[in-house]
Parts: sequence; structure tokens; C-alpha cells
Amino acid sequence: MQQHDLLDEIRRRRTFAIISHPDAGKTTLTEKLLLYGGAIRLAGSVKSRRAQKHAVSDWMEIEKQRGISVTSSVLQFNYDGYCINILDTPGHQDFSEDTYRTLMAADSAVMVIDCAKGVEEQTKKLFHVCKMRGIPIFTFINKLDRAGKDPFELMEEIEKVLGIKSYPMNWPIGTDGNFKGVYNRKKRQIELFSEGNHGQSQVTTMVGDVTDDKLKGLLGQDLHKQLMEEIELLDMAGDDFNIHEILTGELTPIFFGSAMTNFGVQPFLESFLRITNPPSPRNSNQGEIDPETENFTGFIFKIQANMNPTHRDRIAFLRICSGKFTKGMQVNHVQENKKVRLSQPQQFMAQDRVVVEEAYAGDIIGIHDPGIFRIGDTLCENQDKIVYEGIPVFAPEHFAKIYAKNSMKRKQFLKGISQLAEEGAIQVFKRPNIGVEELIVGVVGALQFEVLEYRLQNEYGVVINMQQLPYRYIRWVEMKDFDPENFGVTMDTLIVEDEDEKPVLLFQNEWSIERVKERNPKAILKEISRR
Ligand code: G4P
Repeated sequence: MQQHDLLDEIRRRRTFAIISHPDAGKTTLTEKLLLYGGAIRLAGSVKSRRAQKHAVSDWMEIEKQRGISVTSSVLQFNYDGYCINILDTPGHQDFSEDTYRTLMAADSAVMVIDCAKGVEEQTKKLFHVCKMRGIPIFTFINKLDRAGKDPFELMEEIEKVLGIKSYPMNWPIGTDGNFKGVYNRKKRQIELFSEGNHGQSQVTTMVGDVTDDKLKGLLGQDLHKQLMEEIELLDMAGDDFNIHEILTGELTPIFFGSAMTNFGVQPFLESFLRITNPPSPRNSNQGEIDPETENFTGFIFKIQANMNPTHRDRIAFLRICSGKFTKGMQVNHVQENKKVRLSQPQQFMAQDRVVVEEAYAGDIIGIHDPGIFRIGDTLCENQDKIVYEGIPVFAPEHFAKIYAKNSMKRKQFLKGISQLAEEGAIQVFKRPNIGVEELIVGVVGALQFEVLEYRLQNEYGVVINMQQLPYRYIRWVEMKDFDPENFGVTMDTLIVEDEDEKPVLLFQNEWSIERVKERNPKAILKEISRR
């Protein structure tokens, strides 16, 4: 392949995650992006939307029973010369550590906010992970077809609650059930949408200058006057558009729209693709690696077990960071210092899994894992020994004590636990001096407990007893000569150690965290740990 072909392929990649609180409209917006990308013809026509939600990954019985998607998937499609990879993050109430890890593979994020609800809990958590990475964050304020908060109020809320500057790229015309279109601030023009067939197909747009009499007439005197006043206020009082601040995640461009009716979806997509970045360099033990380097490199950010229950296979999800991947290529598994042939790589197109012949930096592929990969592993072409910066271990928020009901099954129990921990489905902690007799399991979303119970029974034949614990907060302790006997904690705090035997504190409330900090001024308490 010519060098310039490789560069063209990499530069047209846009890999992003959509983050939101459940019900803000992430699934709907994803579907509409697929609709505009031509990947599906009529929104909702392939399957009913709800069915589609779990059709993407209906491999696990628990997902079918609950009608939700436990795992995240990756969708690829082309639009206007761009090759788009959407990393879909589990959006239900009980999301897992995988949701956070998926963000490690994204180059930017789109944050969907419900205009009536504003910034919600899960959005905040996901936002902070994106912020920690310093990736660009775009905001799509959704459901403008319905009654919602005032657009200025929403802007202020984003800035105050999330601590990020904002710049509205467009401004809604008509709110509270009277959404007619948007004012495009860059082009200084009005874009009016016409009623479609309930969002099933693309909407037509009427575009014109803000002074155009015909458009003025269509809007009516009052709405036009209000718009002119709001534009003036925005221009005077708001932050300036600053591309550098957008690309470093300090300023979020805001778009207003309605995913359900398709209003504002296309202007968002086009503007987003133009502004957001192609695959960016990544930190490694050899410094930053440029995605346009010819040699293939990538890292594993997620491992999913038993996608096909009859084969008991595992799929490792690999983010390609540089160069080109070809099917059957032999790569260096750096952490294990072994050669591996990648023979059945898969990619995820809309709802289908297909075998991928070639892929480029920015793409995500699923590779067969016979049990040799771990989250964070690097794969490289040739003799390269690049190791990408590890994937953080995120703070679990739910904890339980577990043991096998039948003590004869201890061996299988420990094997199952250790494999599930390796996959990153759970985190395991021990009490110092007690060891594996009593294991404490931590998860990011409470649903993972059910997954754990189900999988231990179905895959390892172990029935467990589980006792949920009242802890909600975790802190890794960084301190020279940490001594659990002499470390000052409150009555309701538990000292444990993680799988790497690092000291960890489990707290029931934030008050205790503050007291422990006061009593141990030499200790640094961290919310996220790196392996
Ligand atoms: P999520 O993935 O973020 O959880 O949200 P999802 O897209 O599933 O949307 C949640 C609900 O909000 C859905 O309604 C969906 O139709 C609705 N919705 C999404 N975008 C818009 C919008 O722009 N305007 C309005 N008015 N509603 C929107 P539901 O009743 O839960 O599901 P369904 O019966 O529509 O499938």
C-alpha cells in the first residue's frame, strides 16, 4: 500500500463515544446517525427500536431477560468521505466498568443531554472520565420538540455543574413544543426543518439568511424578534469559539436538536465531523506514538466472554493506534513476549458482525481470545516493544462479600472469580491477614453482581452466597510504609488490599474520607488506580 493511501485512510477516521444518562436519547441519536450515514434506510424499520437495543449483543441470556444491553458495541459506517466508528456505551442505570474503559478507546465524545432534565448523574461520571483524558467533548441537547429548560439555563448548568466552557454552535428557534429550526451561528443563517414522517427518514431543511423576509414571515414577528435578541446576547456575553480549547476538552460546542424528529441531526453530524479530531497520538513507554506510523500497534480495552455460548469463546476488543491491520497478520503480544496470529478478526457494522480484511488506526476490531489477553495489553507489528499507557482501574461503587455455597467447589469458585476479574467484569479485594477465605467483590454497576452470580453458576457450576456491604466509596492509598495497624480510620471504614496487594480503603460516606485524610496527612488517597 502506498504511504499516502495509508494516511488518507487514517485521516478520514473519526472514532467517538456517545455518553449520556439513560433515556436522554443516546440510542435514538445513534440510530439517526446511522440513518444519515446510509447504514440503515428507515429508522426503526429494521427491527423495533427496543428490540434493536438488545439485538446488537443478545448473546447473554441475562440481557434478553432484562431487555437491556449489558455490553457495549462498536458501529462503523461511512459518511461524506469520513469513516465513522461509534463506540456505544451501556446506558442503562447499572452500567459497568466497561463503560468507562470504552472511553479509553475513543478520540472524542458526544454528550447527549435531555433538555428537560439537564446534566444528570451518569452524564457527570462519564464526563469526568472524558475530561481526565482531555479529549474533545461535544454536547447535543436533545428533545427540543418537548417542553424543557431555557437554553441559556442549560448552558449555565453545563458550565457550572461540569466545569467546562461552552459555545453554542446553533441556537434553537422555538422551544416547548414549538421547535422550528436552528440559527447557525457560523453561517449566520436560519435552518428551518419541515415535518418529516415522525423521524423515520431524513428531514428537509429550508435555509436562508437571518434577514430573509420569507423566513421571517414563516417564523412570525415574535419568534424572529426573540431570536435576534438571543443572538445578540450570545455574541456579547458568551465565550468565543476557540478550536484549541475544543480539541483539548476545555470548551464544549453545543448543538440543539431532537433526535426523534431528526431536527438538527444532520447539521450536528456535519459540524461535528469537521471539527473533531482524527486518531490522535497515544502515550507509551516509548513516548507518544503517531497514528500515522506505518507499523501496526494497538491495545486491548475490553474483553467479552462467551459471546457464543456454544463455543465459550472470548472476544478481545482492540483499538488500533497506528498503521494498518490485515487479516491473518502475525503480531507481537508485548506483555507476554509471544507471537500471535490474528486470524478471525471481526468488525461490527450496524447490527452485523463481519470478518474484517483490513483496518486502520482509529478502528476497533474484535479478536478471538483463547484466554491469553488481558485488558491493557499491547499488540505490535515486527519486533516493536511498545507498551501503551495502562487502562485505569475505576472506582467501584458497590461491594459484596461472597463465598461458594458448597465448600467442595472452592477451586472452581476461585478460578471463576480470577477469570472474571481478569476480564475486568469485577474487582476483587482481600482483608489483610484473612486472605481468600473471605473475598470482597467490587463493581461499578450493581447489575454486575447478577452477571457474576449467573456466570459463576452457568460457566463454572458454582452457586454463591452474596452479602451486600454498605460501602460506596473506594480510595487507593499511596503512602510510604503503609501499616494497616497504625493507620487512622473511622469505625465504618474497611481496610482491604487489591489484586496487586495495594492498600485500599472502603468508605460508607464522604465524611469518613475527609476524617481519614485529616488523620493521615502523609497518605494520598486516589479514586482511580493504574495497573
Ligand atoms: P437512551 O439510549 O439514552 O437510554 O435513550 P433512548 O434513545 O432509548 O430514548 C429514550 C426515550 O426518549 C425513548 O422513548 C425515545 O423515543 C425518546 N426520545 C429520544 N429522543 C427524543 C427526542 O428528540 N424527542 C422526544 N420527544 N423523545 C425522544 P421511550 O418511550 O422510552 O421509547 P420508545 O417507545 O420511543 O421506543
